Amino acid sequence: MTLQQSDTPLTTSKPIRHFLQLADLSRDELEHVLERARIIKDKFKRYEPYRPLDDMTLAMVFEKASTRTRVSFEAGMYQMGGAVIHLTTSDSQLGRSEPIEDTARVVSRMVDIIMIRTFEQTRIEAFSKYSRVPVINGLTNEYHPCQILADVFTFLEHRQSIQGKVVTWIGDANNMAYTWIQAAQLLGFTLHFSAPKGYQLDPGRLQGIPAGVYRSFDDPIAACEGAHLITTDVWTSMGYEAENEVRKQAFQHWCVDQRMMACASPDALFMHCLPAHRGEEVSADVIDGPQSVVWEEAENRLHAQKALMEFLLLGKV
Ligand code: CP
Repeated sequence: MTLQQSDTPLTTSKPIRHFLQLADLSRDELEHVLERARIIKDKFKRYEPYRPLDDMTLAMVFEKASTRTRVSFEAGMYQMGGAVIHLTTSDSQLGRSEPIEDTARVVSRMVDIIMIRTFEQTRIEAFSKYSRVPVINGLTNEYHPCQILADVFTFLEHRQSIQGKVVTWIGDANNMAYTWIQAAQLLGFTLHFSAPKGYQLDPGRLQGIPAGVYRSFDDPIAACEGAHLITTDVWTSMGYEAENEVRKQAFQHWCVDQRMMACASPDALFMHCLPAHRGEEVSADVIDGPQSVVWEEAENRLHAQKALMEFLLLGKV
């Protein structure tokens, strides 16, 4: 734990870096984190201890369920020499209406870094405003930047570069889709997007995104043509469960199956952030087939987030 003498929010010469969305990193910083993920993963695979966060503590605040995010952050912090505290809405005062700002004030006086999974982006922004330590977005309704960090890292492991490539998103305009668009803008690739009417991108959220960063398609098959990566997500994201039956009807032609994969580049990869519903957003023969890299993608949450925590706490090493 770093000694903090002031009783007021930190105003040291080094500003606190938060990771509330992918675009909080510059291209140079993103490329640095991705390269560090490669090096840190290599150490992990060689059983070489790497504990630069010795004596540091990560608090994780979950207001929604998780498997991958919890395990990858928790394992990652322990592997880097630190400790972890796990909080949920039901086992903390958040479930009894303690304001998020007060939670941020208190928790950030006791730990070195905080990961939060919550609802609206405004909620994590409010949290970060009152936090004295870096805050990481472990998923909000609007963005899922840790997942895209791992996904891009996975793509680079297989294909070396993503610049100039085509990534196809089949599914609604959810937190993953908008984060993919941020990645496309930062790293110079094109995001093809296809969703049924009523589930498409909100032009209000795309202002300032240059032409060529993304293309919307009514026809999901057309969206897959020439793609180097096809990726999707469950038809109903967390928090929208009441729409489940309506969405099942609307999305029935937006299942990533062999027909879609056949339209893509012959060496196209398939990714899914998981959990997956086989027979809904993806067919079993695609997610369990030779083009799928979903298990590496899930593992890479660990390595990418270790690199991210290292960057936020120690800067460029
Ligand atoms: N992809 C992802 O964030 O998984 P969890 O919801 O299990 O954390």
